[in-house]
Amino acid sequence: MPVAAELDAAPRERRIRLIADGIGSGAAAHEHRLLRAARPALPVLNWLGQFARPIMKVPGLGWITSDPVVARNLLNDPAHLTLLSEGGVGHLWAQILGDWVYDLFDGPGHHDLRTRSKELFTERTSAAFVEHAWGDRLREARAAFEAGERLDLADLSRILVGRMVTQLLGLPVDPARGDDAYRDIFATGERLASIALGTTADTQLPPDKIALARGIVDELTGHIDDVFSSAAPDTVIGRCRELGLTLQETKGLSTLLMVAGTETAASAMARMAAILVDSGELSRLLAHPEHRDDTVREALRVTSPAPLIGRSVLADVEVAGRMLRAGDRVMVLTWTANNVAGAFRMDRPYLPHNRQLWFGAGRHLCLGGPLARAELAAVLELLVGDGRGYRVVSRRYGRRVLIPAYASLVVEKV
Ligand code: HEM
Repeated sequence: MPVAAELDAAPRERRIRLIADGIGSGAAAHEHRLLRAARPALPVLNWLGQFARPIMKVPGLGWITSDPVVARNLLNDPAHLTLLSEGGVGHLWAQILGDWVYDLFDGPGHHDLRTRSKELFTERTSAAFVEHAWGDRLREARAAFEAGERLDLADLSRILVGRMVTQLLGLPVDPARGDDAYRDIFATGERLASIALGTTADTQLPPDKIALARGIVDELTGHIDDVFSSAAPDTVIGRCRELGLTLQETKGLSTLLMVAGTETAASAMARMAAILVDSGELSRLLAHPEHRDDTVREALRVTSPAPLIGRSVLADVEVAGRMLRAGDRVMVLTWTANNVAGAFRMDRPYLPHNRQLWFGAGRHLCLGGPLARAELAAVLELLVGDGRGYRVVSRRYGRRVLIPAYASLVVEKV
């Protein structure tokens, strides 16, 4: 039986075990190896996830859940859960950026920031950002790809994301350096994110890491002091100013965009390309191009590039019959919660239970969701816009990276 069919036919518990075990040589197996290469603990967590429904306590880790409804309820409960105390990503950022993070990331300032920035990435502005930042480079890549040249999609994804960051933050780059300038910007974002590596169990950073991270943030946002008052409205800096954000809010948001929207987006692009081939769904998509949007959604679901979301408990709260105590840590296993629905199918309809859990939920729901979708749609157009398929020539999984991703994925038209 083909892997996808076997997965779909299996009962839920067996299905998640099949996925976590990385069976066969199909999409699930490659995804499993990719997760393991990034962080060896990830497949173990995913495997544990099969028991974490509705919610389960793991000694040394805290509470874990892979139930989409419980997950959403937790992420929608700011009265009892926070990302600011130890165990949450806000705690990391407060040590790097300063105490104002407590207001802007999860306090009253966060609500204000989200209210004012909600128009930042709409479907329309996202499509414009993609065309502006990528248009020429994508057309160049597509022409070469369709003419038969091999394409390292993982490398191209990093270049594209670097270009997007450059445009959004209005970062100065040296045009003479070509793609290398953008590879470097991506790598800088990666270095910043890697500071969070190894913090699954502890978010207290040692002083040397704090100093390192502060240097990187300065490198990425130092220019904003000078350009804030004059940045063009098609940059995030200019839009932030027009939306009434302060300089400090703009710098904070820029850092967030850099960390939240670089590795995740690049990860999804190459993994989508690989999964289409590995699952055997590419030929069905070529026959039914009207399912491109479903393909993007499915790629986000099965890859879930942010595989877990951490919070800590502020005040005792009962969840699905279990008592979570103040100070406990909670981990939402988004990858497991999303994958339990079954294998990648290019035309799988929207799953109301899961909604968009790959983008989180509640007040911290991904701000860049529409941009990520527009980016994936543009990459899909590059891959299959001419109605012809492609094959994977070679691949290399990224090792010890925060966000599981291909280090290299070489594809070629067939
Ligand atoms: C496939 C790509 C992406 C995935 C899977 C993803 C996933 C997520 C998730 C799960 C969260 C919630 C984290 C939490 O609750 O702790 C989040 C937050 C966020 N994302 Fe994304 N993201 C992606 C792309 C982007 C892009 C392209 C941008 C913008 C350039 C972006 C900007 C943000 C921001 C600013 C937040 C923080 C929102 C807040 O705290 O209010 N993301 N993202």
